[in-house]
Amino acid sequence: MFTNNFFKALNIKNQKELLYFSRKTSIPVSKLKMYNEESILPFNEDLNKILKELNISEFEFKLKLGILDSDTIDLLAKFSSEINTLIKNPQYDRESNKKNDKLPIFKTDFGELYQDDCLSLMQNLPKNSVDLIFADPPFNLNKKYESKINDQLSKTEYLKWTERWVLSCVELLKEGGSFFVWNLPVWNTHISSILNKYLNFRQWIAVDIKYQLPIPNKLYPAHYSLLYYTKGKKPSTFNNQRLPIEICRHCGGDIKDYGGYKHKLNKNGLNLTDVWRDLSPVRHSKYKSRESNELPLKLLERVISMASEEGDLIFDPFGGSGTTFIVSEILKRKWVGCEIGPINSIIKRFEDIDFHKKQILDIQSKKNVLFTEEMKTIRTQNGHWLADTFNE
Ligand SMILES: C[S@@+](CC[C@H](N)C(=O)[O-])C[C@H]1O[C@@H](n2cnc3c(N)ncnc32)[C@H](O)[C@@H]1O
Repeated sequence: MFTNNFFKALNIKNQKELLYFSRKTSIPVSKLKMYNEESILPFNEDLNKILKELNISEFEFKLKLGILDSDTIDLLAKFSSEINTLIKNPQYDRESNKKNDKLPIFKTDFGELYQDDCLSLMQNLPKNSVDLIFADPPFNLNKKYESKINDQLSKTEYLKWTERWVLSCVELLKEGGSFFVWNLPVWNTHISSILNKYLNFRQWIAVDIKYQLPIPNKLYPAHYSLLYYTKGKKPSTFNNQRLPIEICRHCGGDIKDYGGYKHKLNKNGLNLTDVWRDLSPVRHSKYKSRESNELPLKLLERVISMASEEGDLIFDPFGGSGTTFIVSEILKRKWVGCEIGPINSIIKRFEDIDFHKKQILDIQSKKNVLFTEEMKTIRTQNGHWLADTFNE
């Protein structure tokens, strides 16, 4: 809590100093904690009280909090030469520290897996070399990872770390390459604001999967966010993915009324939208060897088929159970993967590759068609229209 920018700006390092500051400014501790946890600028009278207590201007306080309004950015640009002389940023010296001493721990026909911290690995990979990056980082929800990483950083620390790996990914991406980031909406709002400065926004994909119980006084969180960016104006690859129409599970009847539009429906299926409702969390897979975090094969099959071609290079910095790697391998994409923790569950997936191949084939048989074979059977039995019969 005391490592967030807000308490740092107030020079509050412990509970005692927090109580003291609260007494001096008569801002309740709970409110100071809220500003700190959310890392936001205090509002109304609170801001004036803080500025008075710190004896600084609003401009300086915003700089301390890292809040850069457009006017501030204009000023920084105007004085960029002076600022550059004043601040020597070590981040830009990292090129000279580069050592090419990484060896993969596991290799396949198409891929290489590294057991490493992705920040360190990415410094060793060639820039502008990757066609597609998929990243599913820890969400900072205090989950227990086998890798024992700290998943309960302060907001400032988590966002700093996030910016570092995101920018490293941006460097690895080829022009025309695509970058997907899977996270909770609350974090993807921040990741979006980082990426908007470097890449072209294509889509915020809402993946409708409920992930927690309803929270009082809040809307029921029911989607994960999947950000989709490209380097440069156009992606090198965009293979449209099509879905079957939605039907009633019991009778096979239409859920939507297509009225007189049936003849206009593409026989290869409906256009995929930016709301994905057909994915379910991995829960009882026979091969699920980890407690949590494994993404559905169907999600990766869709992303990889949509944004890459056979032979392209895919990178995933947060391997987990290796969903990205196994799908890349089966779809004949080259891949480079990284996982800081144990990698036995990734290797186990490759031992079971035939099982995964069957699943991918099944997934593929249910896309790019208006009706799957199962749907055709139940609809024929119950007298519902099919692509060939709707004119009758
Ligand atoms: C949310 S899981 C990824 C799950 C994966 N998408 C799957 O389908 O199995 C995040 C993973 O990132 C790993 N990780 C966390 N910090 C890392 C780092 N700095 N470098 C590499 N891996 C890291 C964690 O150990 C964890 O396995």
